[in-house]
Amino acid sequence: MIDSKYSLVDAMNWRYATKKMNGQSVPSDKLRTILESIRLSASSVGLQPYRVMVVTDAETKMRLQPAAFGQQQIIGSSHLLVFAVHENIDIDQVNNIIDLMAQKRQVSIESLSGYKSMLEKTVLSRSESDLYHWATKQAYIALGSGMVAAALEHVDSTPMEGFDARSFDEILGLHQLGLRSVVLLALGFRDAKNDLNSTKAKVRIPKDDFFIWR
Ligand SMILES: Cc1cc2nc3c(=O)[nH]c(=O)nc-3n(C[C@H](O)[C@H](O)[C@H](O)COP(=O)(O)O)c2cc1C
Repeated sequence: MIDSKYSLVDAMNWRYATKKMNGQSVPSDKLRTILESIRLSASSVGLQPYRVMVVTDAETKMRLQPAAFGQQQIIGSSHLLVFAVHENIDIDQVNNIIDLMAQKRQVSIESLSGYKSMLEKTVLSRSESDLYHWATKQAYIALGSGMVAAALEHVDSTPMEGFDARSFDEILGLHQLGLRSVVLLALGFRDAKNDLNSTKAKVRIPKDDFFIWR
């Protein structure tokens, strides 16, 4: 249970990109909250063109670590989340989401025809490369949701782009699942004594420079 006096801003100040984790496991209730926040994250037109692989196996993490420039968080983490976008975004995905919506909202597929054509326009009008970049942006929103949820749960996390996506895809068999890794989120607990970053002041652009009011 989170202390009600622990605000979102407190959590955002508490969190930092943890460089060294102590290997302690994230309790299942906290993990559930973080994963649900990721799953419930918003995406453009609601398509969720990404999936999240949850890596806990120590041997797999050992294999991944060299492909992430040896970063310690890969093996020090409790759970390593790999955000991966769909390689092929096409009419099948549109149909899947339409079916799911019809089922969840107990409405007919025909009644969703307007939404369906909007989805088709969004998806089918884009080139493969545009779709990849679009999907990646959606995955990053989910990454952000996960980071905020982790901070509120007092779980440390490290967002990571420093890895070789092709090697990760190969080691994790992502290609066979029609997926391509884009970003990681290591979850765990800080090894405060051995992580120099744990005591460093947060550096952010001052409000007056950051926000432009009109
Ligand atoms: C998308 C993204 C990718 C990042 N990749 C890495 C990474 O590979 N390794 C790492 O140690 N930190 C990584 N970081 C952490 C940033 O360096 C860090 O968030 C930034 O310096 C601000 O510091 P703070 O998060 O500790 O406040 C990444 C952050 C983001 C948002």
